[in-house]
Amino acid sequence: MTLNTYEDYDDLSRFATLPRLDNRSQQALRRQARPSRRQAPPREIAEQMDGEDALTTTLVVGESEQRLLQQALTDFYRDNVLSDVLARVKGGKEANVYCCQGHPTSGLDLLAAKIYRPQAHRTMRNDAIYKEGRLMLDQDGKGILRDARLKRAIAQKTDFGREVITFSWIEYEYDMLQTLHAAGADVPRPIGHRGNTILMEYFGDVNDPAPTLNSVRLTPDQARPMFDRLLWHVELMLKHNRVHGDLSAYNVLYWDERAVVIDFPQAVVALKNPHAQRLLQRDIERLGQYFTRYGVTVDARALARELWTRFENAEL
Ligand SMILES: Nc1ncnc2c1ncn2[C@@H]1O[C@H](COP(=O)(O)OP(=O)(O)OP(=O)(O)O)[C@@H](O)[C@H]1O
Ligand SMILES: [Mg+2]
Repeated sequence: MTLNTYEDYDDLSRFATLPRLDNRSQQALRRQARPSRRQAPPREIAEQMDGEDALTTTLVVGESEQRLLQQALTDFYRDNVLSDVLARVKGGKEANVYCCQGHPTSGLDLLAAKIYRPQAHRTMRNDAIYKEGRLMLDQDGKGILRDARLKRAIAQKTDFGREVITFSWIEYEYDMLQTLHAAGADVPRPIGHRGNTILMEYFGDVNDPAPTLNSVRLTPDQARPMFDRLLWHVELMLKHNRVHGDLSAYNVLYWDERAVVIDFPQAVVALKNPHAQRLLQRDIERLGQYFTRYGVTVDARALARELWTRFENAEL
């Protein structure tokens, strides 16, 4: 797959000016919106798709971003998973996240599409400490260590090899979401993934995405139970042989008085990665940093050691 580079983003101000409506009213308004108000795909894409199947979007963006949306989301659109792109939530370092209208068959009104940037592999936290002990995965989640052609492409750092690396990170992220969601964790429900894109449950309203915990002020009686619940997630991940590796209040969403853990591409395999215990301690420390303002403290080192011992003794 060849991807174009990003340029000319519209800013989010157009959404900031929308009236605050609940989801149902927003949905009703969108149904009434005439199709001509939606942005058509670039002409060459529309032609390739015979016009009919092309995704038109309520979100108006520059051409290169529109191409990227088409490439990332058209298959989901054709498969009746989503029906529109409503807003760009955030352009992160590695990925852009969009708020999409879920097709009724997806079971969700709003979906988050996390679309990795074409050059994500350049900035991704893919330094050695995260990669150790990790099997490279292809887009179907199968290990690719035995595929000599892929191994060569990765070793030679060709464009294709780099894409393979990015897909492998996305594969890990999706796998982690599925495992944690099935285990009852507070993570977005995974809906599907393809190429450089993950679709999942969206938290927030269209023009009011859930804030990350670092920008939220909790009431004093919310803090302790929320911290304990987040530590339960740390334990749950370890039970499934993973350490998040980038956990902090910046990777936790706050919605409906609940903390939702996100952003898993760098999760490490605990049994195989020699740095896992150190990363576990750092995750606990960083979470703890946010909660100290509420008088909630933790001895991260002692807790990491205790969890690790229980993990090694299969007592989690
Ligand atoms: N399921 C979701 N529902 C609502 N908003 C989301 C969702 N997933 C991600 N976001 C928003 O998108 C932002 C970026 O997501 P994420 O942390 O997964 O990607 P990232 O590339 O690591 O970004 P960053 O570098 O900012 O951490 C989040 O901080 C959050 O604001
Ligand atoms: Mg993040």
